[in-house]
Amino acid sequence: MKIAILNGSPRTENTAAMAEAFRQGAEAAGHEVEILQVGKMKINGCLACEYCHTKGEGKCIQKDDLEKIMPAYLESDMIVFASPIYYFAPTAQLEAALQRVYCIGKPAKATKAALLLSSGSGAYDAAISQYKTFTQYVGIQDMGIYTATGDENKSEAKLAEIREFAKTL
Ligand SMILES: Cc1cc2nc3c(=O)[nH]c(=O)nc-3n(C[C@H](O)[C@H](O)[C@H](O)COP(=O)(O)O)c2cc1C
Repeated sequence: MKIAILNGSPRTENTAAMAEAFRQGAEAAGHEVEILQVGKMKINGCLACEYCHTKGEGKCIQKDDLEKIMPAYLESDMIVFASPIYYFAPTAQLEAALQRVYCIGKPAKATKAALLLSSGSGAYDAAISQYKTFTQYVGIQDMGIYTATGDENKSEAKLAEIREFAKTL
């Protein structure tokens, strides 16, 4: 299975460790994994111009780093959303990417998804609710939601949990 991890963190720290643990487990199980550093990308918000749904035929009129994500988003069998919690939500970079894939509506191939969230003290409700609603909307199956709070971040116990989960896919 081809798996794309969209990492919304601008840092190479806690969320990156979760994404890397997932990659290790999934690759051990024979999957092909690509981690996309969405948090370090420049992705504008949607302009609601509807070019994509008219003349653009699925292509966004804005030329920015969304173009780096689209190939993996279109070709992957599974999409893993990974993000730190910033003010009770995923990062603005990941949110922008999600809102911009409006240009294609539903991912072409993906049938599975997972969510990895890191935070200082919790507050996952909004991010989990959004993820569940989004996966239902696009018709892809949630395979698992993993959180790392405070000291759980980068802990071997948490990373092993994520690694083992990814091996079961
Ligand atoms: C702008 C900003 C907002 C944050 N908001 C929250 C929050 O609402 N709740 C929380 O528990 N942690 C919050 N944090 C802490 C991060 O979620 C936490 O440090 C996380 O582990 C960072 O992940 P990273 O190492 O991948 O960047 C915030 C951090 C930043 C920079």
